[in-house]
Amino acid sequence: MHTGVESPRGVWWKPAHKAEKVWVVLAFAWCMVLFAMMPLWHWKGGQNPSGIRARVEPEAFRVRTDEFIATYKVGEEDNGIPIVEPPPGSDIYLLGQMWLWTPSLRLQKDAEYTLHLSSADVNHGFSLYPLNINFQVVPGYDYGLRVTPTEAGDFRIVCNEFCGVGHHVMVGRIEVIDSAAAATDEAAEELVLSAPEGDEGGDR
Ligand code: CUA
Repeated sequence: MHTGVESPRGVWWKPAHKAEKVWVVLAFAWCMVLFAMMPLWHWKGGQNPSGIRARVEPEAFRVRTDEFIATYKVGEEDNGIPIVEPPPGSDIYLLGQMWLWTPSLRLQKDAEYTLHLSSADVNHGFSLYPLNINFQVVPGYDYGLRVTPTEAGDFRIVCNEFCGVGHHVMVGRIEVIDSAAAATDEAAEELVLSAPEGDEGGDR
C-alpha cells in the first residue's frame, strides 16, 4: 500500500519513448492544420459562408420585404405570390412564413445580390433545389448572403425545417434568367423576321 506521496509502482513515469514523442508532435501538428483550415475554408474555400447577420423584428423585416416587392415587382404573379425582378447589385429580401416564401424572385445570371433571409414566425429551412444549398431561416435574425447565380434556370426553395402541418407545401421559387443569351436570341429572331421583308422589298 502506498500513501500517494511515494510514486506508485509501474512504468508510466519513465521518460516517453522516442516513437511516442514523435506521435505526440505529429498529432499536435495535425491539430494545428485542422485549426488553420477553419479560417482558411471561410476565406478560400467558398464554403460555410458567415454572411451578414443582424437582429431584426419580424414585423420590421416584413415591412422591408413589402417595400422591396412594391419597388421591383413586375406585375405578374406566381400562384398569388408577387414576382420581383430586382436590379443586379441590389439587396433582395425573402420572407419565410407558415407556409410560403415571399416573394418569387427573378434574378439575372452572373449578377451579384445580397440576399436577406428571415422568418415571420417559426424556424424554417431554406433549401435550394436541385442544388445542395441549405440555410436556417430564423425569426428575429436577418441573415444576409452574397449570392451570384451562375446558372440560368427555374429553382425551387424547399423548406427543410419542420414547421407545422403545411411544411410539405412550403415551396418557393427563384428564376434565374440569362439576359445576355436572351438578347442574342432576340437579335437572331429579329434577323429572321426582317429577312423575308427585305426579299419582298426587292419585288415591289
Ligand atoms: Cu417552413 Cu417547413
